[in-house]
Amino acid sequence: MRAQVGIIGAGPAGLMLARLLHLAGISSIIIENRSEEYIYNRIRAGLIEHWAADLLTDVGAGERMAREGVLHWGNNVGINGDLHRMDFKALVGKRVTIYGQQEVVKDLVALRRADGGPILFEVDDVSVHDVTSQRPQIRFTHQGKAETIDCDFIAGCDGFHGICRPSIPAERMRVFDRDYPFGWLGILAESPPPDHELIYSYTDRGFALYTMRSMSLSRLYLQCDHDEDIANWPDDRIWEELHRRLGGARKLQEGKMLQKGITPMRSFVAEPMQYGRLLLAGDSAHIVPPTGAKGMNLAFADVVYMARALEAFFKKHSSDGIEKYTDTCLSRVWQAQRFSWWMTQIMHVFPDETAFDRRRQLADLAYLTHSQTAAKSLAEQYVGLPLD
Ligand code: APR
Ligand code: PHB
Repeated sequence: MRAQVGIIGAGPAGLMLARLLHLAGISSIIIENRSEEYIYNRIRAGLIEHWAADLLTDVGAGERMAREGVLHWGNNVGINGDLHRMDFKALVGKRVTIYGQQEVVKDLVALRRADGGPILFEVDDVSVHDVTSQRPQIRFTHQGKAETIDCDFIAGCDGFHGICRPSIPAERMRVFDRDYPFGWLGILAESPPPDHELIYSYTDRGFALYTMRSMSLSRLYLQCDHDEDIANWPDDRIWEELHRRLGGARKLQEGKMLQKGITPMRSFVAEPMQYGRLLLAGDSAHIVPPTGAKGMNLAFADVVYMARALEAFFKKHSSDGIEKYTDTCLSRVWQAQRFSWWMTQIMHVFPDETAFDRRRQLADLAYLTHSQTAAKSLAEQYVGLPLD
């Protein structure tokens, strides 16, 4: 097979990149190792920054999001049951859209099919070759047959556990990471969320997040030990802790639990995000703790920069964007890393913190919820900094 760009991974990064390239008249082939059904059922965050929702609309993937997504012009920060609303509209005049990531994936796959662009599911044994040449190659098997894609560039959009980042020689890569001493126990429940907007609740018992997929489908998270075993958390214990961590600020209705699991919390950045003609985007290059809901938004930003660079290469024969790709992405990546770390450290109880730390953290929260300047800083980063 032959394409200008071979894309490994059909998550938000790979699918959005394929659409941007198609709109620029650049050919691509997407290969995905999971089944189509699997990627549609993978529960992920569901918060889209203002500019990213506009991007989905601009590329033609925003119709169902406009119908089914919910615009949030604010959220709530709780401090031991005392709620403080962050008014994004008043503070920065922007909002976020609540719409599940798997719905975005479905919409982008449908668009890929409408574009008539190749997308292969359930591939195996994927490897990349000759990435430092001008003719890199992707090799894989599909339906039991060995296949290759001859291309000009390979886009590594295969997530944190993919093969692309590890294909860059270790001596050419630097990794910056931080593991947090806790995780999130997340549930999806057939119950109305306690508020029409998100509640980020700090309590002396630990953090909890009350978000939603709709007004009848709640997505709820509890801070738990980093090595927690979900078997220790029967449904009634989860609900009891969720009630407690609302601190009486709202009533929480229980409902049928559809899914529960534990997410580790980590910050991770691999530099550089490219090697020869292999360009990394999204989770293949960086991971943020979910507190700031930056993952998919950051993946979209990377592929906007990548598509611009590839369009300049193919249409203007300019390699400038390709050479600057890593620096362009990292400027935004590190802002998102800082914000995600900051949101995580201000909202969670750290097991090894001292009494001084606890008082200092409560003072931090008090400043955040009483200072317009502090609230505006949170708001402008939460709704998404403008794309350069
Ligand atoms: N070959 C082909 N596809 C692969 C391979 C492989 N060897 N390894 C992984 N994949 C696929 C995964 O099955 C997944 O569908 O690559 C895709 C990567 O998608 P994501 O992990 O969603 O990463 P990304 O597109 O960067 O989006 C980041 O997704 O995981 C969330 O929290 C994350 O919100 C963030 C967003
Ligand atoms: C989610 O919708 O799952 C979600 C929303 C906001 C967050 C984290 C997760 O900060």
